[in-house]
Amino acid sequence: MHTQVLKLDDAAAADRAIALAAEHIRHGRLVAFPTETVYGLGANALDADAAAKIFEAKQRALNDPLIVHVADLEVGPLAEVRLLSAIVKQLTEAFWPGPLTLVLPKRESIPPIVTAGGDKVAIRMPNHPVALALIKRAGVPIAAPSANRFGHVSPTTAQHVLDDLDGRIDLVLDGGPTTIGVESTVLDVTVNPPMILRPGGITREQIEQVLGVTLAVRRPSSFVSHLPSPGLLEKHYAPAAQLLIVKDVDALGANHAALTAMRKKVGLLLLDNQREACQTLAGPHFVLGNTLEDVARHIYAGLRSLDSAHVDTILITQIPDTGIGEAIADRLKRASSR
Ligand code: TXA
Ligand code: MG
Repeated sequence: MHTQVLKLDDAAAADRAIALAAEHIRHGRLVAFPTETVYGLGANALDADAAAKIFEAKQRALNDPLIVHVADLEVGPLAEVRLLSAIVKQLTEAFWPGPLTLVLPKRESIPPIVTAGGDKVAIRMPNHPVALALIKRAGVPIAAPSANRFGHVSPTTAQHVLDDLDGRIDLVLDGGPTTIGVESTVLDVTVNPPMILRPGGITREQIEQVLGVTLAVRRPSSFVSHLPSPGLLEKHYAPAAQLLIVKDVDALGANHAALTAMRKKVGLLLLDNQREACQTLAGPHFVLGNTLEDVARHIYAGLRSLDSAHVDTILITQIPDTGIGEAIADRLKRASSR
Protein backbone atom coordinates (compact mmCIF):
# COMPACT_ATOMS: atom_id res chain seq x y z
CA MET A 1 0.00 0.00 0.00
CA HIS A 2 1.26 3.47 -0.84
CA THR A 3 0.72 6.08 1.86
CA GLN A 4 -0.20 9.48 0.46
CA VAL A 5 0.65 12.62 2.44
CA LEU A 6 -1.37 15.77 1.82
CA LYS A 7 -0.42 19.18 3.16
CA LEU A 8 -3.17 21.56 4.18
CA ASP A 9 -1.41 24.81 3.36
CA ASP A 10 -4.25 26.87 1.99
CA ALA A 11 -8.02 26.64 2.25
CA ALA A 12 -8.50 25.11 -1.21
CA ALA A 13 -5.83 22.43 -0.67
CA ALA A 14 -7.27 21.63 2.76
CA ASP A 15 -10.75 21.31 1.33
CA ARG A 16 -9.64 18.90 -1.41
CA ALA A 17 -7.55 16.85 1.03
CA ILE A 18 -10.37 16.58 3.56
CA ALA A 19 -12.84 15.58 0.83
CA LEU A 20 -10.52 12.76 -0.27
CA ALA A 21 -9.87 11.70 3.32
CA ALA A 22 -13.62 11.60 4.03
CA GLU A 23 -14.09 9.40 0.98
CA HIS A 24 -11.42 7.00 2.27
CA ILE A 25 -13.18 6.85 5.65
CA ARG A 26 -16.56 6.17 4.04
CA HIS A 27 -14.99 3.36 2.00
CA GLY A 28 -13.59 1.68 5.09
CA ARG A 29 -10.00 2.83 4.62
CA LEU A 30 -7.50 4.33 7.09
CA VAL A 31 -6.59 8.00 7.37
CA ALA A 32 -4.20 9.60 9.85
CA PHE A 33 -5.21 13.12 10.84
CA PRO A 34 -4.11 15.82 13.26
CA THR A 35 -5.93 16.56 16.49
CA GLU A 36 -4.93 19.11 19.14
CA THR A 37 -3.31 16.34 21.21
CA VAL A 38 -1.56 13.85 18.90
CA TYR A 39 -2.19 12.46 15.41
CA GLY A 40 -4.98 9.88 15.22
CA LEU A 41 -5.33 6.85 12.97
CA GLY A 42 -8.95 7.04 11.84
CA ALA A 43 -11.51 4.64 10.46
CA ASN A 44 -15.30 4.59 10.28
CA ALA A 45 -16.37 3.79 13.86
CA LEU A 46 -19.60 2.17 12.66
CA ASP A 47 -17.79 -0.29 10.36
CA ALA A 48 -16.29 -3.30 12.15
CA ASP A 49 -14.08 -4.24 9.17
CA ALA A 50 -12.65 -0.73 8.96
CA ALA A 51 -11.96 -0.70 12.71
CA ALA A 52 -10.23 -4.08 12.41
CA LYS A 53 -7.79 -2.51 9.93
CA ILE A 54 -6.68 -0.07 12.64
CA PHE A 55 -5.63 -2.92 14.92
CA GLU A 56 -3.78 -4.57 12.05
CA ALA A 57 -1.94 -1.43 10.91
CA LYS A 58 -0.87 -0.54 14.47
CA GLN A 59 -0.30 -4.13 15.54
CA ARG A 60 -2.46 -3.27 18.49
CA ALA A 61 -3.86 -5.90 20.83
CA LEU A 62 -7.58 -6.47 20.21
CA ASN A 63 -8.39 -6.03 23.90
CA ASP A 64 -7.40 -2.34 23.84
CA PRO A 65 -10.52 -0.28 22.99
CA LEU A 66 -10.58 2.71 20.61
CA ILE A 67 -11.77 6.26 21.19
CA VAL A 68 -14.70 7.33 19.00
CA HIS A 69 -14.32 10.89 17.71
CA VAL A 70 -17.42 13.00 17.07
CA ALA A 71 -17.95 16.50 15.69
CA ASP A 72 -21.45 17.13 16.90
CA LEU A 73 -23.22 16.68 20.20
CA GLU A 74 -26.62 16.01 18.75
CA VAL A 75 -25.90 13.12 16.42
CA GLY A 76 -24.29 9.74 16.48
CA PRO A 77 -23.30 7.65 19.44
CA LEU A 78 -23.79 10.40 21.96
CA ALA A 79 -27.37 11.50 21.34
CA GLU A 80 -29.19 9.53 24.04
CA VAL A 81 -26.39 9.31 26.54
CA ARG A 82 -26.12 13.04 26.77
CA LEU A 83 -29.68 13.32 27.98
CA LEU A 84 -28.97 10.76 30.66
CA SER A 85 -26.40 12.57 32.65
CA ALA A 86 -26.01 16.05 34.06
CA ILE A 87 -22.32 15.36 34.53
CA VAL A 88 -21.85 14.64 30.82
CA LYS A 89 -23.67 17.85 30.01
CA GLN A 90 -21.46 19.91 32.34
CA LEU A 91 -18.28 18.34 31.05
CA THR A 92 -19.08 18.62 27.36
CA GLU A 93 -20.17 22.22 27.80
CA ALA A 94 -16.95 23.07 29.61
CA PHE A 95 -14.41 21.06 27.63
CA TRP A 96 -15.70 20.04 24.19
CA PRO A 97 -14.32 20.34 21.66
CA GLY A 98 -11.11 19.55 23.59
CA PRO A 99 -8.76 16.95 25.03
CA LEU A 100 -11.26 15.18 27.29
CA THR A 101 -12.47 11.66 26.44
CA LEU A 102 -15.59 10.45 28.23
CA VAL A 103 -16.17 6.75 28.90
CA LEU A 104 -19.92 6.22 28.61
CA PRO A 105 -22.39 3.34 28.25
CA LYS A 106 -22.03 1.85 24.77
CA ARG A 107 -24.84 2.13 22.26
CA GLU A 108 -25.91 -0.55 19.78
CA SER A 109 -24.54 1.24 16.73
CA ILE A 110 -20.92 0.88 17.87
CA PRO A 111 -19.48 -2.51 16.81
CA PRO A 112 -17.92 -4.56 19.64
CA ILE A 113 -14.42 -4.45 18.15
CA VAL A 114 -14.29 -0.70 18.84
CA THR A 115 -14.86 -1.20 22.57
CA ALA A 116 -12.85 -4.44 22.74
CA GLY A 117 -16.06 -6.26 23.57
CA GLY A 118 -16.81 -4.02 26.53
CA ASP A 119 -20.12 -2.34 27.31
CA LYS A 120 -18.59 1.13 27.62
CA VAL A 121 -17.41 3.38 24.82
CA ALA A 122 -14.88 6.21 24.95
CA ILE A 123 -15.97 9.35 23.09
CA ARG A 124 -14.28 12.65 22.42
CA MET A 125 -14.75 15.77 20.32
CA PRO A 126 -11.30 16.94 19.22
CA ASN A 127 -10.52 20.64 19.13
CA HIS A 128 -8.87 20.77 15.73
CA PRO A 129 -10.40 22.25 12.56
CA VAL A 130 -9.07 19.45 10.33
CA ALA A 131 -10.32 16.67 12.60
CA LEU A 132 -13.74 18.30 12.97
CA ALA A 133 -14.06 18.96 9.22
CA LEU A 134 -13.08 15.37 8.43
CA ILE A 135 -15.63 13.87 10.82
CA LYS A 136 -18.38 16.12 9.50
CA ARG A 137 -17.50 15.47 5.86
CA ALA A 138 -17.28 11.69 6.40
CA GLY A 139 -20.71 11.83 8.02
CA VAL A 140 -19.78 9.10 10.52
CA PRO A 141 -18.01 9.04 13.89
CA ILE A 142 -14.33 8.17 13.52
CA ALA A 143 -12.60 5.59 15.70
CA ALA A 144 -9.00 6.66 16.19
CA PRO A 145 -6.16 5.62 18.45
CA SER A 146 -2.88 7.51 18.33
CA ALA A 147 -1.27 6.90 14.91
CA ASN A 148 1.80 5.03 16.13
CA ARG A 149 2.86 1.40 16.20
CA PHE A 150 1.52 -0.29 19.31
CA GLY A 151 3.57 0.60 22.38
CA HIS A 152 5.50 3.37 20.62
CA VAL A 153 5.51 7.03 21.52
CA SER A 154 2.48 8.91 20.10
CA PRO A 155 3.03 11.01 16.94
CA THR A 156 2.84 14.80 17.11
CA THR A 157 3.81 15.41 13.45
CA ALA A 158 2.88 13.80 10.11
CA GLN A 159 6.50 12.65 9.79
CA HIS A 160 6.19 10.73 13.09
CA VAL A 161 3.14 8.98 11.64
CA LEU A 162 5.08 8.00 8.52
CA ASP A 163 8.04 6.81 10.59
CA ASP A 164 5.73 4.26 12.21
CA LEU A 165 3.06 3.50 9.61
CA ASP A 166 4.31 4.32 6.10
CA GLY A 167 2.91 1.78 3.66
CA ARG A 168 0.35 0.50 6.17
CA ILE A 169 -2.29 3.24 5.85
CA ASP A 170 -3.88 5.06 2.91
CA LEU A 171 -3.46 8.75 3.73
CA VAL A 172 -1.93 11.19 6.20
CA LEU A 173 -3.37 14.68 6.49
CA ASP A 174 -0.42 16.90 7.42
CA GLY A 175 -1.70 19.71 9.61
CA GLY A 176 1.69 20.53 11.13
CA PRO A 177 2.80 19.82 14.71
CA THR A 178 0.04 19.29 17.27
CA THR A 179 -0.34 21.95 19.94
CA ILE A 180 -1.01 20.08 23.20
CA GLY A 181 1.32 17.17 22.56
CA VAL A 182 0.06 14.59 25.07
CA GLU A 183 -3.12 12.56 24.65
CA SER A 184 -6.57 13.42 25.95
CA THR A 185 -7.65 12.81 29.52
CA VAL A 186 -9.77 9.63 29.68
CA LEU A 187 -12.55 10.03 32.28
CA ASP A 188 -14.98 7.26 33.18
CA VAL A 189 -18.29 8.96 33.95
CA THR A 190 -20.21 5.71 34.45
CA VAL A 191 -18.88 5.55 38.01
CA ASN A 192 -19.55 7.93 40.87
CA PRO A 193 -17.47 9.98 41.41
CA PRO A 194 -15.99 9.92 37.90
CA MET A 195 -12.55 8.34 37.59
CA ILE A 196 -9.55 9.48 35.56
CA LEU A 197 -8.31 6.41 33.68
CA ARG A 198 -5.55 8.34 31.92
CA PRO A 199 -4.38 11.86 32.81
CA GLY A 200 -4.09 14.11 29.75
CA GLY A 201 -4.73 17.47 28.15
CA ILE A 202 -7.55 18.55 30.49
CA THR A 203 -6.22 18.59 34.03
CA ARG A 204 -7.68 16.96 37.12
CA GLU A 205 -8.00 20.42 38.68
CA GLN A 206 -10.03 21.72 35.72
CA ILE A 207 -12.48 18.80 35.90
CA GLU A 208 -12.84 18.96 39.67
CA GLN A 209 -13.56 22.65 39.48
CA VAL A 210 -16.36 22.22 36.93
CA LEU A 211 -17.97 19.25 38.71
CA GLY A 212 -17.32 20.44 42.25
CA VAL A 213 -16.26 16.94 43.30
CA THR A 214 -12.99 15.18 44.03
CA LEU A 215 -12.30 12.64 41.31
CA ALA A 216 -11.71 8.99 42.10
CA VAL A 217 -8.17 7.72 41.80
CA ARG A 218 -7.65 4.75 39.54
CA ARG A 219 -6.15 1.77 41.26
CA PRO A 220 -4.52 -0.28 38.51
CA SER A 221 -5.63 -3.63 39.91
CA SER A 222 -9.29 -2.71 40.30
CA PHE A 223 -9.37 -1.21 36.84
CA VAL A 224 -7.74 -4.16 35.12
CA SER A 225 -10.18 -6.57 36.72
CA HIS A 226 -13.09 -4.67 35.20
CA LEU A 227 -11.86 -4.01 31.72
CA PRO A 228 -8.55 -4.80 30.14
CA SER A 229 -7.08 -1.61 28.76
CA PRO A 230 -3.40 -2.16 27.97
CA GLY A 231 -2.97 1.48 27.05
CA LEU A 232 -3.32 2.19 30.71
CA LEU A 233 -0.79 -0.36 31.84
CA GLU A 234 2.90 0.03 32.52
CA LYS A 235 5.57 -0.01 29.84
CA HIS A 236 3.74 1.98 27.29
CA TYR A 237 4.56 5.06 25.29
CA ALA A 238 8.08 3.69 25.23
CA PRO A 239 11.15 4.87 23.33
CA ALA A 240 13.73 2.24 22.34
CA ALA A 241 16.34 3.82 24.61
CA GLN A 242 16.22 3.40 28.37
CA LEU A 243 14.62 6.44 30.03
CA LEU A 244 15.88 7.54 33.44
CA ILE A 245 14.01 10.18 35.46
CA VAL A 246 16.30 11.90 37.98
CA LYS A 247 15.71 14.40 40.76
CA ASP A 248 17.52 17.52 39.60
CA VAL A 249 20.33 18.87 37.43
CA ASP A 250 22.99 17.68 39.86
CA ALA A 251 21.67 14.12 39.68
CA LEU A 252 21.52 14.49 35.92
CA GLY A 253 25.22 15.35 35.82
CA ALA A 254 26.14 12.50 38.18
CA ASN A 255 24.16 9.94 36.17
CA HIS A 256 25.63 11.25 32.94
CA ALA A 257 29.13 10.77 34.32
CA ALA A 258 28.40 7.25 35.56
CA LEU A 259 26.76 6.16 32.29
CA THR A 260 29.48 7.69 30.16
CA ALA A 261 32.07 5.82 32.24
CA MET A 262 30.16 2.66 31.33
CA ARG A 263 30.52 3.65 27.65
CA LYS A 264 26.83 4.38 27.30
CA LYS A 265 25.68 7.00 24.82
CA VAL A 266 23.49 9.44 26.77
CA GLY A 267 20.84 11.85 25.45
CA LEU A 268 19.34 14.68 27.51
CA LEU A 269 15.83 16.10 27.58
CA LEU A 270 16.25 19.57 29.07
CA LEU A 271 14.26 22.57 30.20
CA ASP A 272 15.45 25.95 28.93
CA ASN A 273 16.87 26.84 32.31
CA GLN A 274 18.93 23.62 32.47
CA ARG A 275 20.73 24.20 29.17
CA GLU A 276 23.62 26.18 30.52
CA ALA A 277 24.40 23.87 33.43
CA CYS A 278 24.43 20.92 31.03
CA GLN A 279 26.15 22.40 28.00
CA THR A 280 29.44 20.55 28.55
CA LEU A 281 27.77 17.12 28.86
CA ALA A 282 28.47 14.93 25.84
CA GLY A 283 25.72 13.57 23.60
CA PRO A 284 22.58 14.97 21.96
CA HIS A 285 20.52 17.53 23.89
CA PHE A 286 16.85 18.18 23.13
CA VAL A 287 15.35 21.31 24.66
CA LEU A 288 11.69 20.99 25.67
CA GLY A 289 11.05 24.65 26.53
CA ASN A 290 10.09 26.45 29.69
CA THR A 291 6.60 25.75 30.93
CA LEU A 292 4.78 22.48 31.55
CA GLU A 293 2.75 23.22 28.41
CA ASP A 294 5.99 23.49 26.39
CA VAL A 295 7.19 20.20 27.83
CA ALA A 296 3.89 18.47 26.95
CA ARG A 297 4.07 19.84 23.40
CA HIS A 298 7.63 18.66 22.79
CA ILE A 299 8.12 15.57 24.94
CA TYR A 300 7.23 12.95 22.30
CA ALA A 301 9.29 14.68 19.59
CA GLY A 302 12.17 14.75 22.09
CA LEU A 303 11.92 11.04 22.83
CA ARG A 304 11.71 10.22 19.12
CA SER A 305 14.61 12.52 18.27
CA LEU A 306 16.93 11.00 20.89
CA ASP A 307 15.85 7.52 19.78
CA SER A 308 16.87 8.30 16.21
CA ALA A 309 20.23 9.49 17.54
CA HIS A 310 20.61 5.91 18.87
CA VAL A 311 21.35 6.83 22.45
CA ASP A 312 21.39 4.03 25.02
CA THR A 313 19.91 6.12 27.80
CA ILE A 314 17.79 9.27 27.96
CA LEU A 315 18.00 11.45 31.08
CA ILE A 316 15.37 13.92 32.22
CA THR A 317 14.67 15.60 35.55
CA GLN A 318 11.33 14.81 37.20
CA ILE A 319 8.30 16.84 36.13
CA PRO A 320 6.00 18.39 38.78
CA ASP A 321 2.86 16.32 39.17
CA THR A 322 0.41 19.24 38.86
CA GLY A 323 -1.69 20.55 35.97
CA ILE A 324 -0.68 18.97 32.69
CA GLY A 325 2.45 17.81 34.53
CA GLU A 326 0.33 14.90 35.82
CA ALA A 327 -0.05 13.63 32.24
CA ILE A 328 3.62 14.20 31.38
CA ALA A 329 4.80 12.48 34.56
CA ASP A 330 2.45 9.57 33.82
CA ARG A 331 3.86 9.06 30.31
CA LEU A 332 7.45 9.39 31.49
CA LYS A 333 6.83 6.85 34.23
CA ARG A 334 5.43 4.37 31.70
CA ALA A 335 8.20 5.08 29.22
CA SER A 336 10.81 4.43 31.91
CA SER A 337 9.30 1.24 33.32
CA ARG A 338 10.98 -1.71 31.76
O1 TXA B 1 -5.73 12.38 22.49
C1 TXA B 1 -6.14 11.25 22.27
O2 TXA B 1 -6.91 10.65 23.03
C2 TXA B 1 -5.67 10.56 20.97
C3 TXA B 1 -6.22 11.34 19.79
C4 TXA B 1 -5.93 10.68 18.47
O3 TXA B 1 -7.61 11.52 19.95
N1 TXA B 1 -6.10 9.20 20.96
C5 TXA B 1 -5.53 8.26 21.75
O4 TXA B 1 -6.02 6.97 21.53
O5 TXA B 1 -4.65 8.48 22.55
P1 TXA B 1 -5.32 5.66 22.10
O6 TXA B 1 -6.10 4.54 21.52
O7 TXA B 1 -3.88 5.71 21.78
O8 TXA B 1 -5.58 5.71 23.62
C6 TXA B 1 -6.90 5.56 24.09
C7 TXA B 1 -6.90 5.16 25.54
C8 TXA B 1 -6.33 3.78 25.72
O9 TXA B 1 -5.57 3.79 26.90
C9 TXA B 1 -7.56 2.93 25.87
O10 TXA B 1 -7.29 1.77 26.63
C10 TXA B 1 -8.53 3.87 26.55
O11 TXA B 1 -8.25 5.13 26.00
N2 TXA B 1 -9.92 3.52 26.24
C11 TXA B 1 -10.52 3.54 25.04
N3 TXA B 1 -11.79 3.10 25.11
C12 TXA B 1 -11.99 2.77 26.40
C13 TXA B 1 -13.10 2.24 27.11
N4 TXA B 1 -14.24 1.94 26.51
N5 TXA B 1 -12.95 2.04 28.43
C14 TXA B 1 -11.79 2.34 29.04
N6 TXA B 1 -10.70 2.83 28.44
C15 TXA B 1 -10.79 3.05 27.13
MG1 MG C 1 -1.93 5.39 21.95
